[in-house]
Amino acid sequence: MTSLAVHADQRAEGVPLVLLHAFPLDSTMWQQVVSRLPGIPVVTIDAPGFGGSAPREHASLEDYAREVVVTVRELGADQAVVAGLSMGGYVAMAIAEAAPGILAGIGLLSTKASADAEPAREKRLAMAAAAERAEPDLAVGMLQGLLGDTSRQHRPELVEQVRERLRTAPAAGICWAQRSMAARPDRLAALAALAGVPALVLRGAQDALMSDGDACAMGTALGVEVVELAGAGHLAALEEPDAVAAALAQLYARSVG
Ligand code: MLT
Repeated sequence: MTSLAVHADQRAEGVPLVLLHAFPLDSTMWQQVVSRLPGIPVVTIDAPGFGGSAPREHASLEDYAREVVVTVRELGADQAVVAGLSMGGYVAMAIAEAAPGILAGIGLLSTKASADAEPAREKRLAMAAAAERAEPDLAVGMLQGLLGDTSRQHRPELVEQVRERLRTAPAAGICWAQRSMAARPDRLAALAALAGVPALVLRGAQDALMSDGDACAMGTALGVEVVELAGAGHLAALEEPDAVAAALAQLYARSVG
């Protein structure tokens, strides 16, 4: 039995579409997208230390991935379409490696398959240590990188919403996630091994954190074209929920038929 906070429409039946959120947000980042997916049994999950999920002592994306797989089985499903944005994508790729058979389809949004270079890893561990010392407003500096120019220039209410999410990001979650992400390996081979599993690779053209090359490498491994959203940055699900929901609905239809 997993103790992750799982948010699902109890009436929904069939193969679930599991959505995994970005760092340092929680499952509510998917609200706009979920409301645009009527008729699809969507399940959103809070990562350890975020939203309604308790922190875990051991920092591991792989453990979280295993818990997501257990959650799918607890929902009574043999398979799921799993889509994750950024950190959520790292977890979807950990599932691809550990339990590929559970994937009816995979969606990788604003993410990358490569591991961190040493300086990025050190930065993550420093942020985790600062979170442990309960330093305030640790994540607020991420704002600039999370939204594209279009959102930052023309959508002040979205900028404020994201700033508030960053300001209130939980220290225990920051700590768990940064240590977990610092330890993740390259997972391009796991994607290439998925051969034939329906896939979506999506990026915002204004994403300052994940490059076109990152997306192309995943697309090539999975045998799909990258879907690029011109008006979005990193948090594409918040910036362009219509286009993200449409891409996920298409992935779901290809995966479940
Ligand atoms: C995220 O949006 O989940 C993070 O930017 C991922 C990361 O820090 O690599």
